[in-house]
Amino acid sequence: MAHIGSSISEAKEILDRGELIGLPTETVYGLAGNALNPASVSKIFQVKNRPQFDPLILHCSSIEQVKELVSEFPDKALKLAEEFWPGPLTLLLPRKKEVIPDITCSGLPRAAFRIPKHKIARKLLEKLDYPLAAPSANPFGYISPTSAMHVNNQLGDKIEYVLDGKVSKVGIESTIVGFEEEKAIVYRLGGLDVNAIEAVIGEVEIMPYSSSSPAAPGMLKSHYAPKKTIHLGDVDDLIRKYKGKNIGILSFHKKYAGVPKSFQLSSSQNLDEAAQNLFSYLRLLDESDVDLIITELVPNEGLGKAINDRLKRASV
Ligand code: TXA
Ligand code: MG
Repeated sequence: MAHIGSSISEAKEILDRGELIGLPTETVYGLAGNALNPASVSKIFQVKNRPQFDPLILHCSSIEQVKELVSEFPDKALKLAEEFWPGPLTLLLPRKKEVIPDITCSGLPRAAFRIPKHKIARKLLEKLDYPLAAPSANPFGYISPTSAMHVNNQLGDKIEYVLDGKVSKVGIESTIVGFEEEKAIVYRLGGLDVNAIEAVIGEVEIMPYSSSSPAAPGMLKSHYAPKKTIHLGDVDDLIRKYKGKNIGILSFHKKYAGVPKSFQLSSSQNLDEAAQNLFSYLRLLDESDVDLIITELVPNEGLGKAINDRLKRASV
């Protein structure tokens, strides 16, 4: 098992040596290493069992640092950065090829950048003289971790240290935005509401996920899948359909008192709270003894869009 601790200097010492740590962020925990060191980045792919065609996000401490890594910072992108960084927004920007190694961004002309808001992540990033490449700290294709314990349970035998930053407040991965010509495209719905983005730069296009050659490989449907089968629909109908089975329920707000393994995402119907609970409740159900998981969509507004996106991908 990795050591879970709160020492920023210990985390820095490990990263400076080219090794990896578990990194808390406000969205989900990352598996972090020096983004400019190909050997460190290669370890990230190995530990996660992630195919190298799936590029990583570079976590930076300031817009100035990002500017040193890109060949161009389009106006709309800069507006979004100034408005929402630090925060749950990832921008795809043309990279400086001589600075960012191919392996970090799978040889693509663009790289993904984000300045996280989490206090501990920011403190650490400010002390480093390189950005951190950090995918979500889960084995490839599984649910993202929202606590240090989640990271330790799944990757603890492969890394030395997890920096503890308590529970991730947003609970769902960052929103990914890229630009083609003047058009802004959302490649992954996430912790920053699309309406907030549109309020700053006008209308954006949302890329649907697909099962073949996705622009962002995180758009693959099979992502976020727990080991147990998830059935998405009307909870009461599904309870009737699977009568006799040992079911687990993940409902939006309704209580199912007669079902022992039943979780409500938010009893007060708050979508931010629902996002924060989503992955940890899915994990609890997946690790429990239920035969199958029954769940429902939440209202398709605010973070509800990103929650529904994850539920659809995780279900059969
Ligand atoms: O909230 C988050 O974004 C978390 C925390 C740790 O920051 N990170 C995260 O990373 O979710 P990851 O690797 O699990 O998902 C990043 C997604 C992947 O689907 C990847 O395909 C896409 O971003 N991506 C990264 N670089 C890209 C690029 N240059 N072009 C297109 N897609 C890219
Ligand atoms: Mg991920």
